[in-house]
Amino acid sequence: MLEKFRKSTASSSPNTQTPAYFKMDQYVEAVCYTAAPGQTQWYPPLMVSAGSIAQRAVCAERVQEAIALLDRLSRDDYSEYLLKYYREGARRFNAGWRYVDIVTVLLALAEQLQPKSYLEIGVRRGRSVSAVASKAPACDLYMFDMWVSNYAGMENPGPELVSQELDKFSHSGERIFTDGNSHQTLKPFFETHQDLAFDLITVDGDHSYDGAVEDLCYVLPHLKIGGAIVFDDVCHPKHRYLEDVWKRLIVEDSRFTAWTDADIGYGVGFALRKW
Ligand SMILES: C[S@@+](CC[C@H](N)C(=O)[O-])C[C@H]1O[C@@H](n2cnc3c(N)ncnc32)[C@H](O)[C@@H]1O
Repeated sequence: MLEKFRKSTASSSPNTQTPAYFKMDQYVEAVCYTAAPGQTQWYPPLMVSAGSIAQRAVCAERVQEAIALLDRLSRDDYSEYLLKYYREGARRFNAGWRYVDIVTVLLALAEQLQPKSYLEIGVRRGRSVSAVASKAPACDLYMFDMWVSNYAGMENPGPELVSQELDKFSHSGERIFTDGNSHQTLKPFFETHQDLAFDLITVDGDHSYDGAVEDLCYVLPHLKIGGAIVFDDVCHPKHRYLEDVWKRLIVEDSRFTAWTDADIGYGVGFALRKW
C-alpha cells in the first residue's frame, strides 16, 4: 500500500505533513511537450506558466463568462451577491477590472487544459464543478463533500442538486460522488484507486489549517504532470492561515509554477505541476 503522506516528527499543531509524491507518468497533453522516442527531453514537459494562464483568468471577458455561468445556476444568497458584485465591477471598471476568483480561474484552466478527469473536495451547490463542466463537458468528475447542512447559512442539499446543475451544461462524463468527511473518505478512496491521476483538482472543503493540509497531502501526488491544483479562500478573513498552507505546500515547492491572488474578495491560488 502506498504511504499517502509523511508526518514530520513534530507532534504539535500546526500540521507539518508533506505529500508523499510517487513517480507520475501521466501528462496533460494540451499543455505538455514530450520529445519523440529516442530524442532528448531537455525541458520539463509543461509549456505554460501559471502566470500565462492567470492572464486568461483575470480579464473582463472571463467575468462576463462567470456571470453567464451563475445566471444558469440555481440561486442562493451568495450567488445573488456575487452576480451583483460582478456586474457592478464590470460597470465601474470596464475592461480594466483585474478581478479573479475560483470561477474565473477554473473557467480559464478548464478551457486551456481540456481536463478528462477532475477531482473536487468541497462541491456545495455545484458552482465550481459546473465551471469545469461548462468548458469540458465530457470530463469525468470525482466529487467529495459531506454536505454540511446550512453551510454558511444556505441550503446544501447534495448530489441531486449538483447533478441537476451539471445537466444544464450537457455534462456527459462520469459523475462519481463520494459523500462524507474527506478525512475519512480520501484514504479508502485512494487505497482502491492508487493509479488514478487527475488533470485538474480543487481543494475547497475543510477550511481548518490541519484539514486543508491533510486534503492537499492526499490529492497532490495524484496530479498529472501539466495538471493544475486550485486552492480557494487564501485571504478569507476567517481563514488567513490558508495562505500559509498554500505557500508551504505549493508555492515553495519547485515542482509547481504557482500564481496567487490574495488581495480582494476571498482570494484564490492555482498551480501547474512541472515534474
Ligand atoms: C466553500 S464550500 C465549496 C464551494 C464550491 N467549491 C464552490 O465554489 O461553489 C465548502 C464545502 O465543503 C464541504 N466540506 C466542509 N468540510 C468538509 C470535509 N471535512 N469533508 C468533505 N466536505 C467538507 C461543505 O459541506 C461545503 O459544501
